[in-house]
Amino acid sequence: MTQKIYGVKGMNDLIPPDIRAWLRVEAAAREVFGRYGYEEIRTPVVEDTALFVRGVGEGTDIVGKEMYTFEDKGGRSLSLRPEGTAPAARAYIEHAVYNLEPVTHWFYLGPMFRYERMKTGRYRQFWQIGAEAFGAKEPAQDVELMDMVIQLLYALELKNVSLVVNSLGDDACRPKYLEALVGYLNAHRDSLCAECRERLSRNPLRVLDCKNEGCRAVLRSAPSIQEFLCGPCREHFDEVKRQLDLLGHRYEVDPRLVRGLDYYTRTAFEFVAEHPALGTASTVGGGGRYDKLIAALGGPEIPGIGFALGVDRLCLLLPEEAKGDRGPDLFVVTLDDKARDEAIKLVGGLRRAGFRVEVDVRGGSLKSQMKRADKSMARFALVLGETELASRSAQLKPLRGGEARQVSLDQLPEALRAS
Ligand code: HAM
Repeated sequence: MTQKIYGVKGMNDLIPPDIRAWLRVEAAAREVFGRYGYEEIRTPVVEDTALFVRGVGEGTDIVGKEMYTFEDKGGRSLSLRPEGTAPAARAYIEHAVYNLEPVTHWFYLGPMFRYERMKTGRYRQFWQIGAEAFGAKEPAQDVELMDMVIQLLYALELKNVSLVVNSLGDDACRPKYLEALVGYLNAHRDSLCAECRERLSRNPLRVLDCKNEGCRAVLRSAPSIQEFLCGPCREHFDEVKRQLDLLGHRYEVDPRLVRGLDYYTRTAFEFVAEHPALGTASTVGGGGRYDKLIAALGGPEIPGIGFALGVDRLCLLLPEEAKGDRGPDLFVVTLDDKARDEAIKLVGGLRRAGFRVEVDVRGGSLKSQMKRADKSMARFALVLGETELASRSAQLKPLRGGEARQVSLDQLPEALRAS
């Protein structure tokens, strides 16, 4: 036999029934984000490597270790996008959108690529739904964005997801904090894991994120960014918290919350789910403010903030009933060739009237077609044979409980609509 070819490790096919959860999440996101005035964008999955090196940061794991980078036939260094913020910012600058409107609200959904060690909820091609708000530096923008995620989680009936917030300061206060942190960590260098010793020079903030027990013990007495925030950063963060309170949203302040991307300033946040299905991949989404990113990518000084949710992870959490597992309205079963001819006309008419209707084009025994009707999750089955054609009426059989009733074939649309 010819050898089979398999999909790439860490990159999943999305096929029914699983894809229904993705479609459900995407539909909910489009609906909820639309309520806040966010419009969809689509950028290429491949970008100039320099965009991520400069945007996300060379010292990050994402750019330093996880990017799919290759040379195209023209000798350009390109990368599969590991995230959506830098591409959105690039498009915003390239099309000079800031000349068209003072504040821009965009969202996107699509696959991202990171060469990560695979575990539950961690893949090499994964799906994100994200949003970016360019042009507003106000804390109200931060809160609007977090509120939008919370409303999406409500719409998906996802409970037990908590919001964690922090401020990462800005150019005025973060350097002082970093100095204090590096000083402290250097004094405890021997108790840190090998990776954190390396991070200490490359990206010291990430040490705060380490899950290693030894590192966590050292971190318990580490200086906190919250104590180093300058006046304007403190004010901004206090206002974010005040407005979250105003909306009645619960959150936890975690001074150790840092993010894996370098572009953040001030507000950073994550949505964390308590659920066994996720194992250690419990962060379903994260984001923050990036007031320097647009300028760093060659645009004007325009502030921004955004977030991204991991759709694969959200789908692992989705309750069965929220997956939108909707079968057809009707499954038509035919007993002979004549009935099949009638069914073709009937089904065509019903579909043109907007009903979801299926028929087993192969025909076959009543039993096998009824089995298929059951599996299709149809609301009703209708059996067409000689008797039904003669009387032009048939039994409309509910497949999920309830009484069967005789209906005229000419009045099927009304009968389906009424039930
Ligand atoms: P991020 O925290 O790197 O942020 O990713 C956001 C979410 O994507 C994560 O919380 C997680 O749910 C999901 N995710 C990340 N990596 C994987 C993976 N390997 N497998 C499955 N899911 C994953 C960003 O990407 C920023 N661009 C968010 C942002 C937007 N900040 C500002 N604007």
